[in-house]
Amino acid sequence: MKEIILVTGGTGYIGSHTVVELQNAGYDVVIVDNLSNSSADVVDNIEKVTGIRPAFEQLDCLNFAGMDALFQKYQGIKAIIHFAASKAVGESVQKPLLYYRNNLVSLINLLELMPKYGVGGIVFSSSCTVYGQPDELPVTENAPIKKAESPYGNTKQINEEIIRDTITSGAPINAILLRYFNPIGAHPTALLGELPNGVPQNLIPYLTQTAIGIREKLGVFGDDYNTPDGSCIRDYINVVDLAKAHVVAISRILEQKQEEKVEVFNIGTGRGLSVLELIHAFEAATGVKLNYQIVGRRAGDIEKVWANPERANNVLGWKAETSIEDTLRSAWNWQLKLRERGIQ
Ligand code: UFG
Repeated sequence: MKEIILVTGGTGYIGSHTVVELQNAGYDVVIVDNLSNSSADVVDNIEKVTGIRPAFEQLDCLNFAGMDALFQKYQGIKAIIHFAASKAVGESVQKPLLYYRNNLVSLINLLELMPKYGVGGIVFSSSCTVYGQPDELPVTENAPIKKAESPYGNTKQINEEIIRDTITSGAPINAILLRYFNPIGAHPTALLGELPNGVPQNLIPYLTQTAIGIREKLGVFGDDYNTPDGSCIRDYINVVDLAKAHVVAISRILEQKQEEKVEVFNIGTGRGLSVLELIHAFEAATGVKLNYQIVGRRAGDIEKVWANPERANNVLGWKAETSIEDTLRSAWNWQLKLRERGIQ
């Protein structure tokens, strides 16, 4: 019998790609999502990609009674991948309580319900934001956690601690915390991808919307940083590669291969790219010329960060595989497909 995995936020950007990879690996998936930042046709598109329709419940993880009923309905859930969260850094500064409530209470509800239903594993969506500006690069999992720059970042740090404290207290739970670097790109079928609400805050959706003419110009936030070309450096990780890391993490938990009850892995490529390098890579990979301009720095930006992914490579047995060119082409194809579908 197939093992059942609950994916919260499974119609979102990273969630939907992960559902596909879980299905490809032979798992049965139940998605729970309140559709606050996604739409139900993502479920149709997942089915188009894999030929399998995942179970879907439109429900907010804040709804404890609703979640309790969900675990009753789908007996035998083995593990959870918890994506569901609010994720806009700027909005979190404006609405901190919304972020603390959404992101903390959702996790608390899951951790309270897991023992009741014998769900023994959780993979948590964390972020390299917990490192702030690291003192040493590439950054390893042992780097100190820095004071969060935003309520959003703080929720990631606090949630990591909530998981640790719960497990230390003796809860029968095993966890893997995946600290993502910068996820970009889309599914190679162009059926799944990132669908930003309103004006995109992140680089790649803004870039592809500029390339297709929705935005006039991409602003590069600063060229006076202490980096070779002066623009900020990030570790851009392909979203399908990232999705596969979750499948490996789930198998590791279910096969009881963990060395500790809480394990942490950086999920990145190990390669840092500047904003300007990324723009040039996009132009080279797609042949599309981009209108961009250097503008002022964005408050709160980290100057440079990229992963040391060796622990994920060696212990988890996962490695980023997709080239940046293929990744950028996938992002562009997704943007073209959105136009074709009349969405953006
Ligand atoms: N950038 C621009 N112009 C834009 C948008 C972004 O130059 O219009 C630059 C940023 O200054 C940054 C880089 O592109 O140097 C990447 O910016 P993103 O907003 O795409 O990503 P961030 O690294 O700022 O943030 C991401 C996630 C957060 C997470 C953080 C962890 O969006 O959720 O990584 O470092 F917290």
